[in-house]
Amino acid sequence: MPGKGNIAIDGPAGAGKSTVAKLVAEKLGYIYIDTGAMYRAITWKALVNKISVEDEIRMARLAQNTVIDFYVDIQTKKQLIFCDGQDVTEEIRSPEVSKLVSHVAKIPGVRLVLLKQQQLLATKNNVVMDGRDIGSNVLPNAPFKFFLTASVEERARRRFLELSNKGYKISQADVVTEIIERDKIDQERSVAPLVKTSDAIEIDTSFLKPVEVVNKIISIINRISESKTN
Ligand code: DC
Repeated sequence: MPGKGNIAIDGPAGAGKSTVAKLVAEKLGYIYIDTGAMYRAITWKALVNKISVEDEIRMARLAQNTVIDFYVDIQTKKQLIFCDGQDVTEEIRSPEVSKLVSHVAKIPGVRLVLLKQQQLLATKNNVVMDGRDIGSNVLPNAPFKFFLTASVEERARRRFLELSNKGYKISQADVVTEIIERDKIDQERSVAPLVKTSDAIEIDTSFLKPVEVVNKIISIINRISESKTN
């Protein structure tokens, strides 16, 4: 099937980007790229190698020397992320990684390495890519850009459920604090901050089920595509 063009989905933590992006990719036969997972993989590797995330030069070098791959488990349809050949799908979601990742994502040298990898992935495939700077920086010419939002309370509730289901002992209040802190760092950093571009369509997911958001996105894509061909 010829692609309609790349799809950029941005928004803050817990807005539902990854759930929705995965389903949109599945429906359209596109490749789903979770760019947050790439920042998380670098953060995980820094923790394992006891590298301070404050050390920007070492962190940029670490990013340069890291191979990140995405695979899909055919049976479960789950996306797996590998870091230097090791499956780190679960490890990168730990609270330790979540706490540090926005500091890593602030480092210009790390961002530059990952930006190039993300752009390369999007030239080789039709992608649904989610993150913070996809529409503004990684794929500024993407024909379809979405910006998902939700209230802080709802985003924290989703993260809390996700972590509790995985057995992590964490309070909902801690999750709220972490989300607010992460939003602030992501929005205020000097390089490629989280921002809604003027050409992105904003969807508040607070009161919507994932399937409702997916249907909304697909119908918007179809409408834009039709208006372009007419
Ligand atoms: O979506 P997430 O929670 O897995 O993202 C992890 C962190 O990475 C988050 O603090 C924002 C950052 N990030 C970014 O700066 N740029 C992206 N394109 C994707 C994620």
